[in-house]
Amino acid sequence: MTVRLGLIGTGTVGGGCLDILRNHKDEFRRHYGVDLEVVRVCSREPEVARSFGFADVFTSDYREVVTDPNVDLVIELIGGTTVAHDAVCEALRNGKAVVTANKALMATAGEEVFSLAEEHGVEVAFEASVGGGIPIIDPLKHSLIANRISKVMGIVNGTTNYMLTRMDEEGASYEEALADAQARGFAEADPSADVDGLDAAAKIAILSSIAFNSRVNLSDVHAEGIRNITTTDLQTARDMGYCVKLMAIGHRTDDGVDVRVHPTMIPLSHQMAKVNGVYNAIYVVGDAVGETMFFGEGAGAGPAASAVMGDVLEVARHIETGVTSFVGCTCTDSLPIVPMDD
Ligand code: HSE
Repeated sequence: MTVRLGLIGTGTVGGGCLDILRNHKDEFRRHYGVDLEVVRVCSREPEVARSFGFADVFTSDYREVVTDPNVDLVIELIGGTTVAHDAVCEALRNGKAVVTANKALMATAGEEVFSLAEEHGVEVAFEASVGGGIPIIDPLKHSLIANRISKVMGIVNGTTNYMLTRMDEEGASYEEALADAQARGFAEADPSADVDGLDAAAKIAILSSIAFNSRVNLSDVHAEGIRNITTTDLQTARDMGYCVKLMAIGHRTDDGVDVRVHPTMIPLSHQMAKVNGVYNAIYVVGDAVGETMFFGEGAGAGPAASAVMGDVLEVARHIETGVTSFVGCTCTDSLPIVPMDD
């Protein structure tokens, strides 16, 4: 069966997805029986679409993708919560499945997106919204679903982890480390989302919503970033046997869910202290499974595209078999959010 894709956004991650398709399309057909065909590409950069051979299906208007009767599955990779919101919601209303990497959208409008998906009987998948290439949403929704999760926490922003590593290990200044992370394509278009902890806050809101079967929005997360961290702070911490990591923490307490992001001193002997550079690591504690840790590259074209295309294949197989898998967060018994002062 052919599943027809409409791609919106051909930046770093979109280009990575087109690369994967170009390299593995035949294997997808042979191994999984899924024939993926890109029938619409929306981009602000026509030359990118042209360079991948999609000049004839190019448009600069996302509406042409989400209303196209020939599109089965929309891949939204523009980010943000304005145009992306309209594109995703309109695609779902038109009965198209959606795969997105958009953490800000899922952390602020998740409820609307899920209810539209359910109403129209289509699937929305968002593995790439957290942890780059690390499978974490799928395990929380499936393999770990039988657990009562007490904690989900970790390093979920590759840009700041890269910066802290360079500042700590090489004595780079904050500005040098940020410029380097941007040059490597890790940072968001506006890096304040990374350095002020908001990118990590959106990600831990998404993970906490699924792990604790609760509604956790971006505004529920106390976020403090790394702007005020200096190389002297890092050296002082190291002298005391610690490193500093930007930790995103979701914790089930007697009063509800406590969700926060802030720089944290980690003993150098701890596993988290060994997570350096653009790598992310997410630690999950469940009552049956005990402690588990997920580790991998948290940003960049290849890792993010790996997660997007994994979702695309999974959703395409569901379209093919007529099965629709909804997010494992029904939130019928949502826990309260613990205020920061408690
Ligand atoms: N800017 C993000 C990060 C990209 O550095 O982790 C991946 O979400």
